[in-house]
Amino acid sequence: MASIAIIGTGYVGLTTGACFSHLGHDVICADVDAAKVARLQAGEIPIVEKGLDRLVDEGIRSGKLRFVVGAAEASKEAEFHYLCVPTPQGEDGAADLSYLQTAAAQISAVLPNNSVVVNKSTVPVGSTRVVARVLGRSDVTVVSNPEFLREGTAVADFLQPDRVVIGSQDQEAAIRVAALYSRIAAPIMVTDPVSAETIKYASNAFLASKLSFVNAIATLCEAVGADVNDVVLGMGYDSRIGREFLRPGPGWGGSCFPKDTRALARIAEDAGYDFRFLNEVLQVNEEQFDRTARKIIDSVDAKQAGKHVAALGLTFKAGTDDLRDSPSVEVLKRVVAAGIKVKAYDPAVLAGENQLSRVHPDLVVELVSDPYAAAEGAASLAILTEWDEFTWLDFDKLAEIMAGRNIVDARNLLDPSIPQRRGFNYRGIGR
Ligand code: UGA
Repeated sequence: MASIAIIGTGYVGLTTGACFSHLGHDVICADVDAAKVARLQAGEIPIVEKGLDRLVDEGIRSGKLRFVVGAAEASKEAEFHYLCVPTPQGEDGAADLSYLQTAAAQISAVLPNNSVVVNKSTVPVGSTRVVARVLGRSDVTVVSNPEFLREGTAVADFLQPDRVVIGSQDQEAAIRVAALYSRIAAPIMVTDPVSAETIKYASNAFLASKLSFVNAIATLCEAVGADVNDVVLGMGYDSRIGREFLRPGPGWGGSCFPKDTRALARIAEDAGYDFRFLNEVLQVNEEQFDRTARKIIDSVDAKQAGKHVAALGLTFKAGTDDLRDSPSVEVLKRVVAAGIKVKAYDPAVLAGENQLSRVHPDLVVELVSDPYAAAEGAASLAILTEWDEFTWLDFDKLAEIMAGRNIVDARNLLDPSIPQRRGFNYRGIGR
């Protein structure tokens, strides 16, 4: 079993570290935030991620998972060094590599001989070379090993991946990294670093394109009177298309798709190729936010003027507490800008805490702690994130407490006949 240092304990780093320790490796995770490290040492998980608490607990108990402050502290003992630091979007759309460069600079002097440094963060094409340059160590190989983890199912995605991609010019280093995954049953693909880095961006941008396409089809369905749910079902039976990632919604978001799609367009531009297609994919997404917001704004009819909208769901998808680049928030910003008051509820966003205002200080909504508190006296109700509990809303109760009778279901979560039987007007997406 190998010794692995993980630099950065965000979603990717913490999941990677906990899963590697579960596979039997000795893992030391480092972060710059001493308070966070102290919480992790006590087994407290700062994020909502299914199954992660169990793996962290297991790793701490077995002694195979440790947490320290500072990258150099973790790297001085390890053979593999996973860089899992953020690569936020810079002002010009390109990814900001400063965290990556700082981490590489911090570990370069302490790396044991013949270590392998692994880029796990989503980094622009060519970053493997950048890290190697910052390290300045001829005995150390830098390898790309991109992550394909979805928030909410990151542990399962790590332990049962569709594929493991390793990018290295050095065959021996690639084989050493591949061996870390020997207990995982998945195809392992070895390629050069630039191709590995491109695989990551191309995968995310393709999935984002698929969603913009589906959302555009949903708009078409509304125009021609088709039902998008049946249309995607019929498409999905074709194995070349596949059933996954065909759910229309208020637009796509999260901490990866918007950032990575913009970054890939920028990477192409810098390389002399105008990837206009991706700009359209992004544009269609903005239009989807606008269109969803317009449905909500229109759902407040003249008789209900001045009454608020009840918004159910704030996170970028269900199963996570992540509010970054959330389509629900994008839509609500537009609704609020149209002068409409909003009372919002999300099971992962607690009222009375500053979770929402910290990430979105410019979104002014009243946060409440149950869906019916949001709906009381509301002109209309909008479902924005697909939390399962919204499927089970009590429409008899809603009919009693709401002022209006309009529902906008931006995730096509409900069977329309259920609210319709209680006298509600239902509007979904593309149906
Ligand atoms: C995404 C990718 O799915 C992962 O493979 C990748 O590793 C990760 O980014 C990353 O780069 O780190 P994630 O951001 O967790 O994972 O979220 P997804 O589950 O992909 O959802 C992204 C957005 O698409 C959400 O807003 C979601 O609601 C939306 N979506 C997804 C739909 O609107 N319809 C669908 O059918 C699927």
